[in-house]
Amino acid sequence: MTDRLTSDTFGIDRAATLLREGALVALPTETVYGLGADARNSDAVANIYAAKGRPSFNPLIVHVSDIEMARRFVVWSDTAQTLADAFWPGALTLVLPLKPDHGISSLVTAGLTTLAVRMPDHPVALAVLSRAGIPVAAPSANLSGRISPTTANHVLNGLDGKIGAVLDNGPCPVGVESTIVGLIETPTLLRPGGVAQEDLETVLKHPLQAPEPDTITAPGQLASHYAPTAQVRLNAAQAEDHEVMLGFGEIGGDLNLSETGNLIEAASNLFDHLHKLNETQKPIAVAPIPNTGLGQAINDRLKRAAAPKNG
Ligand code: TXA
Ligand code: MG
Repeated sequence: MTDRLTSDTFGIDRAATLLREGALVALPTETVYGLGADARNSDAVANIYAAKGRPSFNPLIVHVSDIEMARRFVVWSDTAQTLADAFWPGALTLVLPLKPDHGISSLVTAGLTTLAVRMPDHPVALAVLSRAGIPVAAPSANLSGRISPTTANHVLNGLDGKIGAVLDNGPCPVGVESTIVGLIETPTLLRPGGVAQEDLETVLKHPLQAPEPDTITAPGQLASHYAPTAQVRLNAAQAEDHEVMLGFGEIGGDLNLSETGNLIEAASNLFDHLHKLNETQKPIAVAPIPNTGLGQAINDRLKRAAAPKNG
């Protein structure tokens, strides 16, 4: 049985204790619910892969309570400081070189010499992290390849019985995963997400590099990911008879991501609406979404949801 903890002092304490004991705890963050485990404990981290049914050992993001905790594990840089000053706590993950004697399980890094770190902008996540005082590895708390969870119910639909607890704090405000920026060489956009590329470039004062084509540095870059079990058809002007419609702006539908065409609101509704439409077991037609601001992350996730399934 998976405990559903309320996000009060008791629940936060309990979550921190469970994490320290090596259990898996799903935590609310501002982006999506994460499936947390002690990043130093290989048995605990191995259980993340088992619970999600993740096919291979893809590297995980380590969540920290503050910059000081991040600096225990990675070689910090001026660019990292600039981006952290502007966007932490927040939906930005930084990939940096690992320090010697970092103590992080090699299952977290999948053997890489780099580590992805993020300080989430969520009072409950931050309270658990500081209470536990440990680095917490956490991928999105969904079965591998399925729609990411933005409520505790989404988490339990996929993982009930497979994890120790879920700390329920209602819906996640941002609704899409963090933006991942590689700071190994030139700052590189590894995954679009909750912080818009334009905002990062304003702070950096130069464009972000696109990742090298054909290198899969993030499983989120696999063609089929974030996928509902239903077929998804993009850039639809209207639904066909057998379809349900996910609308945006003036193009209405069975559900609308944002009637006013607000991309921030659309991101926060994206996964919940996909979960709901998926329950109809009908193919899903999706209205066009502009590719600016958070639209870039939304279109990235939709493109993967629509890609042919690989089993
Ligand atoms: O918003 C988020 O980022 C959520 C919440 C829970 O924080 N987490 C999340 O984790 O989306 P996950 O596992 O679904 O995606 C992590 C991504 C993967 O695509 C992985 O390949 C990439 O981060 N990643 C992790 N470590 C990396 C590294 N050292 N170099 C490049 N990419 C890395
Ligand atoms: Mg994920």
